[in-house]
Amino acid sequence: MPTQPNRDAIMAALSHVQEPELHRDLVSLNMIQDLQISGSNVGLTVMLTTPACPLKGQIESEVRNAVMQVPGVQQVNVRFDANVRADNRISGRLNLPIRNIIAVASGKGGVGKTTVAVNLAVALSQMGAQVGLLDADIYGPNVPQMLGVQRMPDPRDGKLVPARAYGLQLMSMGFLIQPDQAVIWRGPMLHSAIRQLFTDVAWAEVDYMVVDLPPGTGDAQLTLAQSVPLTGGVIVSTPQDVALSDARRGLAAFRQLQVPVLGIIENMAYFIAPDSGQRYEIFGYGGAERAAQELRVPFLGRLPLDPRAREGGDQGKPIVATYPDSEIAQAFRDIARQLAAQVSVLSFRPDPELKII
Ligand SMILES: Nc1ncnc2c1ncn2[C@@H]1O[C@H](COP(=O)(O)OP(=O)(O)O)[C@@H](O)[C@H]1O
Ligand SMILES: [Mg+2]
Repeated sequence: MPTQPNRDAIMAALSHVQEPELHRDLVSLNMIQDLQISGSNVGLTVMLTTPACPLKGQIESEVRNAVMQVPGVQQVNVRFDANVRADNRISGRLNLPIRNIIAVASGKGGVGKTTVAVNLAVALSQMGAQVGLLDADIYGPNVPQMLGVQRMPDPRDGKLVPARAYGLQLMSMGFLIQPDQAVIWRGPMLHSAIRQLFTDVAWAEVDYMVVDLPPGTGDAQLTLAQSVPLTGGVIVSTPQDVALSDARRGLAAFRQLQVPVLGIIENMAYFIAPDSGQRYEIFGYGGAERAAQELRVPFLGRLPLDPRAREGGDQGKPIVATYPDSEIAQAFRDIARQLAAQVSVLSFRPDPELKII
């Protein structure tokens, strides 16, 4: 008679498998669910902290190996599901179905902040997360254009209704002001406008709310951070020294506001000539990574220059959706995974507000 695999033995074996990012075992993290044993076959679900988990493959093979060691097991069926943890500072202060808020900032305009915010949001959504995109760039709210959205739906029950595009829920300052209207935003007005984009909108469940901030540092970050609790901030920079020194200021602003820095992204890092395949480092190379090391914040990755990213932006078709196999789309997906992993790691810290370097 072959031994029937035993539940306790399987859980004991799995308690030696570590979640690679969280450095704790899957059992104590309560990530093993729906364990079924039928003869020599074992099935289980690993409940990840994000559907955009960068190390899913590694977890799968380690789980499989661990369970196969248990006497009597001949086959293992590993399924994945995900449950994104909520930042409890948000649920504590706002009665909204938003689990995490990620602010995307840049030291100055034109570095690709909106392009990055849009494509990261679409990438996270493609991976199965529920994603909101909030365009808080009061000076140039162009997220709707980059997603090909003209207007928002009519309000319902006294609330604004987010537009839907590429699987995202979208709300933009651009929906609230006339295209050519010059608005002079004063502090309190801006503050209440930004807060309203959260509280007066009928958001459905959101795992990650990506917020496209106005360019520049200090004021915009300050206003947002005072309006809603931010899970973390991301800085987009190009590789030039001037851009990087602006990015450093952006980083300093987040720190001053006690907003955890999730990382730096280097945009327009290089260009590959489509005819020759030759690689050109137009604005220099590696500056953002060095800055990240110096400032001890995560470097989330670099994105190439790709004219199709610009065309896609102009035409309302984000490149991760239209050219999913392009190098830049792959880079966006990698960065989205790194970002999601940083949010997960942060969610396990006892008090993220005390953990800022
Ligand atoms: N990686 C890239 N490759 C090619 N064009 C890009 C890239 N990133 C941004 N762009 C283009 O650069 C311009 C500025 O980008 P945008 O996202 O609007 O910057 P920001 O929001 O920082 O002002 C846009 O025309 C955009 O399409
Ligand atoms: Mg922009």
